[in-house]
Amino acid sequence: MTILNVLTWPDPFLRQTAKPVTDFGPELKTLIDDLFETLYAQKGAGLAAPQVGILQRLCVVDIRQGEPLALVNPRIVAQDEEIEWTEGCLSLPGVRAKVPRFNNITVEYQTPFGDTQTLLAHELLAVCIAHECDHLDGRLYFDRLGSLEARALLNNYFDLNPAKTNEDL
Ligand code: NI
Repeated sequence: MTILNVLTWPDPFLRQTAKPVTDFGPELKTLIDDLFETLYAQKGAGLAAPQVGILQRLCVVDIRQGEPLALVNPRIVAQDEEIEWTEGCLSLPGVRAKVPRFNNITVEYQTPFGDTQTLLAHELLAVCIAHECDHLDGRLYFDRLGSLEARALLNNYFDLNPAKTNEDL
């Protein structure tokens, strides 16, 4: 297994829309293994393929309760009960923010073998899956904040990561 390089903001890959996975061959399994390896190396809760520069609709989630999940072509089909959750992101090291999310989601996805599944997720798992699904559409959690709040977060981020320059706001 390989630890992959996680892209950080403002890498343009993070703004791309990922394409559906159509090939469920051995390369997909290898990529999933590598995503988990990278997730654990970085001590994250979730990682989406675009964060390692692979524009495929695929993410891995492990909230350290229950089974680790590899979600292929995930789609949130229902959500309710608005909440706020403090989130971070491996692509935005050093900063966190309270993000509006939903406490309950229903997600349809495929397993690494191509079987279709439906999962009802709550609390941290729901938030984590929603965060990773956003990455598949080129969205980051600060996009869900008000513009002043997003600007403050990114200013803070660029203060902490001076090698980066702000190309987005
Ligand atoms: Ni993230």
